[in-house]
Parts: sequence; structure tokens; C-alpha cells
Amino acid sequence: MKFFLDTAIVDEIREVNEWGLLSGVTTNPSLIAKSGRVFEDVLKEILSIVDGSVSAEVISREAKGMIEEGERLAAISDQVTIKVPMTIEGLKAVSHFSKKGIATNVTLIFSANQALMAARAGATYVSPFVGRLDDISHDGMQLVGQVAEMFRLHNISTEIIAASIRHPLHVIQAAMSGAHIATLPYKVMKQMVHHPLTDQGIERFEADWKKATRA
Ligand code: E4P
Repeated sequence: MKFFLDTAIVDEIREVNEWGLLSGVTTNPSLIAKSGRVFEDVLKEILSIVDGSVSAEVISREAKGMIEEGERLAAISDQVTIKVPMTIEGLKAVSHFSKKGIATNVTLIFSANQALMAARAGATYVSPFVGRLDDISHDGMQLVGQVAEMFRLHNISTEIIAASIRHPLHVIQAAMSGAHIATLPYKVMKQMVHHPLTDQGIERFEADWKKATRA
């Protein structure tokens, strides 16, 4: 399973990119708003940092508007993946982009049927939202497993991005459930690095080393 970062804060992207494990970035209108910056400016800066796919979401509700927005965004770089909501209009737009060779990420997936429809319309990625399902007492990770199994059975090449990830355990579960990618908030990415026994171990090694080299 690969790691994407789910943020529009460029300092976070710059920092994690240096760790050498980042395969892409996802943004959404809420994350762009939180960055306090102009959409296309922040998108261009993210693209200058990261090598892989960068998802940029369209705002229009109708396919025509989604296509206009998406084509404008896709013209910025081949790395741009157009993020489209899971609606009938969204499916029409995805089908259009797919025929033009433009990568898409169908977002706000909450059922296996939605994932299958998005894949058949030509989606490059589908994003089941794990945390938001958990929030309403549904097992979000079960959906990831179901979609993975469905895609495997039917030889579907659309990749699954486990999204709306809230904590490190979600990441392990996403990997074990067959997600190709997990898109993680910066906070979760940082939490995953640390373990108290690692920190303790480093301190003990350092103390022992100092003792030994003093003797
Ligand atoms: C994914 O692409 C979305 O940007 C994101 O994971 C949504 O997460 P949230 O439910 O924490 O807002």
C-alpha cells in the first residue's frame, strides 16, 4: 500500500516528502479553504514539491462544469488527478476524462456499488471514506475490504484510496483490507513514525555508548 498525504498545507507536504515515502497528495475544497490560499496557486506549489498524483477537486454540480474545471486543472500538469464527486453528473465527467486520458479520483464513496459504478465509468481511483462511515456507526474499513475483493474478482484496475483516515490503526487495517493507497492527514503520518519503545531504545543506546566510551 502506498502513502498519499491528505492536505493542502505545503509545509506539511514539503516535510513529509523529504521522508522519501510519499507517492501523492489529495486535496479537497475544505482542505484548500483551511490553507487560506488561492486554489490554483497552492496546487501549483504542491506540484512543484511532489512527484506523484495530486488530486484537485471540481466544485460544479453538473458534468459540463466539472469537465470545464477539470480540463483547466489537468492542463496545469500530467500529475493532476481530477477529483469528482460520486454523482450521476460525476460519472458522466469521469467517463469523459477517462476517454481523454485524464486521471480521476471519484470521491465521497460510501458503498461498494458506488465504487463499482465509478470504476466502470473509467475512474483511475476510488476513495471510500472510512472515518465518516465510522462516525455514523458503520464499519468504514469493511467497505474497503469489500471493494478490494470486488475489484480483484472482476479484474478491475481502478485503485482504491482509503480516505477519511483518522488514526494509525486505520492505516494498518486499510493495508490489510487491500487498499492500494491510504491518504493520510499529516498528524496521522507523524503518529505512525513514533513508538515509545523506539524512543526509549535510542536513549538507552546513547546512554550506554556514553558510559562505554568514557571508560
Ligand atoms: C480524501 O480524499 C478526503 O480529502 C479526505 O480523506 C476526507 O477526510 P475527512 O473525512 O477527515 O474530511
